Amino acid sequence: MEVPTKSIFVSALVLLLLFVGTMASVKDDLSNKLPEDVDGNEHAVSNPDEVAAMVDMSTRNSTERRKLGSSTCGTGNPIDDCWRCDPNWHRNRKRLAECGIGFGRDAIGGRDGHFYVVTDSSDHDLANPKPGTLRYAVIQDRPLWIVFKHDMVIKLFKGLIINSFKTIDARGAKVHIAYGGCITIHYATNVIIHGLHIYNCKPTENADGDAISISGSSHVWIDHNTLSNCTDGLVDAVMGSTAITISNNHFTRQNQVMLLGHSDSYVKDKHMQVTIAYNRFGEGLVQRMPRCRHGYFHVVNNDYTNWEMYAIGGSANPTINSQGNRYLAPINPFAKEVTKRIQTPTEHWNGWNWRSEGDLLLNGAYFTPSGAKATASYAKASSLGAQSSLMVGAITSGAGVLHCRRGHQC
Ligand SMILES: *[C@@H]1O[C@H](CO)[C@@H](O)[C@H](O)[C@H]1NC(C)=O
Ligand SMILES: *[C@@H]1O[C@H](CO)[C@@H](O)[C@H](O)[C@H]1NC(C)=O
Repeated sequence: MEVPTKSIFVSALVLLLLFVGTMASVKDDLSNKLPEDVDGNEHAVSNPDEVAAMVDMSTRNSTERRKLGSSTCGTGNPIDDCWRCDPNWHRNRKRLAECGIGFGRDAIGGRDGHFYVVTDSSDHDLANPKPGTLRYAVIQDRPLWIVFKHDMVIKLFKGLIINSFKTIDARGAKVHIAYGGCITIHYATNVIIHGLHIYNCKPTENADGDAISISGSSHVWIDHNTLSNCTDGLVDAVMGSTAITISNNHFTRQNQVMLLGHSDSYVKDKHMQVTIAYNRFGEGLVQRMPRCRHGYFHVVNNDYTNWEMYAIGGSANPTINSQGNRYLAPINPFAKEVTKRIQTPTEHWNGWNWRSEGDLLLNGAYFTPSGAKATASYAKASSLGAQSSLMVGAITSGAGVLHCRRGHQC
């Protein structure tokens, strides 16, 4: 049995060489666009082989997902390119579940269940929700892919607590969740939220007033939503949540935008991995885009159009890997810094791993890095290949809710 073993070894070697070759040429392509430091993650870790294998596998995984028959899409946004140019998207809705990338990429939502059509925007009977309402759909135990019959504004009387294996897919309808309770993902897995307008969320008996609050949950993907003006925050992930991707959203008018990590003493959040990719941080935002604790955060190819205080903050030794973002600082000369270490003396934070690679820093914006330049932590804070920051405008041009009509590309 020596021959097959050897030939497997040789093929593996050839594949590895091809992969390394590809990475090298990618680097060459970008070399005149990005600052010197575009080294792939393979140089930034203690065990390059392991990371090369990991990157290779996720590259393969994402290419396998990219096949969209003959229609080539070319929005330049790797998630959207997977489904958005299909004029029959409404017949192939579940394809979306194959298009996730980043740490939340394995979230399948309700892919393996039936469709459920929400026909009723009311929320009167909280104990016994009426069939046809969104609340009825999300509390079912079985997997469901939830869609909407028509446009609607849903005012929830308390937080909508979503069970595992659900997709809320508002493509094709204008669905607003506003003026009351909003979305809670509490000790659940495999939830996809796509295409909702969520705003003016208020505290209720079971929620703090976040647009989307994730606690104790994993495999969550929040994509193409428009979020603004809530009492607490827009997206929070706390209490041991992990495997989350927050992508393609449009955030506006909010003081505290995104909180990732419960408290400095809540060490279960040490394993948290969150990808924040292709979002537009728009007008009227003040701070926490995001504010991180403990875990590993990949902030990649987002468009920060201004902020009042800072963009990315943290405490309790989070690892922050900022790649290929566009940071446009506000006019205020005292708010040019992208980063903020919250209530921590310098001698405590100078070991935290925060890096900026290939970010476009405009209008005097500056990112204060810290920690070791090359460290294994960044392998755990890497979840997809960053594109050049010069592409951010194109990549985020569809951020927020898309206008999708049946029979047409979205
Ligand atoms: C790739 O896909 C395989 C099989 O679906 C899965 O077991 C593996 O964890 C994935 N790996 C990465 C890095 O995405
Ligand atoms: C923001 O929310 C507050 C409280 O819910 C509300 O009073 C205010 O009108 C909202 N602002 C906008 C612009 O909708």
